[in-house]
Amino acid sequence: MTDRQQHQLWGGRFSESTDAFVQAFTASEAFDRRLYEHDIRGSIAHATMLAENGVLTRDERDTIVQGLNEIRAEIEAGEFQWSVELEDVHMNIEARLTAKIGDVGKKLHTGRSRNDQVATDLRLWLRERMDETDGELTRLMRALLDQAETEADTIMPGFTHLQSAQPVTFGHHLLAWFEMLRRDRQRLLECRARVNQLPLGAAALAGTTYPVDRQRTAELLGFDGVCENSLDAVSDRDFAIEFCSLAALCMTHLSRISEELVLWTSAQFQFIDLPDRFCTGSSIMPQKKNPDVPELVRGKTGRVNGALINLLTLMKGQPLAYNKDNQEDKEPLFDSVDTLRNCLRAFADMMPALEPKRANLRAAAGRGFATATDLADYLVRKGVAFRDAHEIVGQAVGRALEDNRDLEELSLAELQQFSEVIEADVHEILTLEGSVSARNHIGGTAPEQVRAAVERGRQWLA
Ligand code: ARG
Repeated sequence: MTDRQQHQLWGGRFSESTDAFVQAFTASEAFDRRLYEHDIRGSIAHATMLAENGVLTRDERDTIVQGLNEIRAEIEAGEFQWSVELEDVHMNIEARLTAKIGDVGKKLHTGRSRNDQVATDLRLWLRERMDETDGELTRLMRALLDQAETEADTIMPGFTHLQSAQPVTFGHHLLAWFEMLRRDRQRLLECRARVNQLPLGAAALAGTTYPVDRQRTAELLGFDGVCENSLDAVSDRDFAIEFCSLAALCMTHLSRISEELVLWTSAQFQFIDLPDRFCTGSSIMPQKKNPDVPELVRGKTGRVNGALINLLTLMKGQPLAYNKDNQEDKEPLFDSVDTLRNCLRAFADMMPALEPKRANLRAAAGRGFATATDLADYLVRKGVAFRDAHEIVGQAVGRALEDNRDLEELSLAELQQFSEVIEADVHEILTLEGSVSARNHIGGTAPEQVRAAVERGRQWLA
């Protein structure tokens, strides 16, 4: 046996050592070391369960746990010698354990395989990251509610086709963002329940002959339950795909919000100001203040979408049960977790600092005949059929356009030329405040509704 063969924990049946390039090619320790803490936690729970069921003695269990705790400290102090020859995080830690505590270390892997071990580690890791993600997401959602409350009466143009459509309140617009994120959070919480099932006990693929108590291991690790089928437990990565899918949707929402922020900070819109700390300048154009944070978030959506396609393609066509393909699940998953969390964090920091320019928002809402629908509705209330009202208002808009005026700038007499049912009360209908506060039902833009929705949103988050 060569040195390298002896080093490899599975070297027994091999007559020549792995090609050096193949060894590096098949190794994952460079990226899966990130799972070290969860690997150790999983091992401690496994050893504890084995001792409770008489597979290990109490002393053996205690020696193993102490060794693992010391290894955790070594890794955290940067003193751990990672070895590519030991392939992955699991074998690096196990080999170190045996080096530290002797032969009893070799008993840790009883009733377990790397196949159920890695699936367990990944689920534990993801569960923790999802909870952090939820923390950033709810921080952002709270910031949106606070801003929406402050801006419940602020009027801005609402758009369809990016053309002025009807006035809305800025608070209402922010609450639309809140609703997108609410569904993202629901997806996150639903996905967490499916992530939080224990694979350990599945062993390599078929289960194990030792008297294991999987419920107990689940309880020790805070899992809600155990994966029901051993073949499925070690092989499917749908929980990771599901996370990447909800991450892609959430990034899509952040990207849409980003697009609006980018437009709104432009000299052409001037709807909001972003504080300097969220922007950067140009090295050549001194006047520039670029909205880098939203632009970057919009751009990072691509890599998260990419990770989703990556994992879907990785899974497709894999026969049961575990295949080495699954080692490729980690980098895309890690990257989408990091990216989503960082983007949410940046947004949660930025949102309270967003400064709406109320006068500009209001002025923009007044342009573009945003209250034309209100005039049509007014005519309908006076007995005109909606299609006729639509036609009448179209003519009034045409009249106003001729000399570049807005609807509310037409005199009563001018308006009456288009319909005799128009009376003096029409002008309050044509005001922006009249327009928004008339949409006073659940889901409508009226300031009163915005305030009520903020209240409900706070209760939902509590
Ligand atoms: N490094 C592997 C992975 O990430 C661990 C499981 C390997 N199992 C095996 N039988 N080769 O999936």
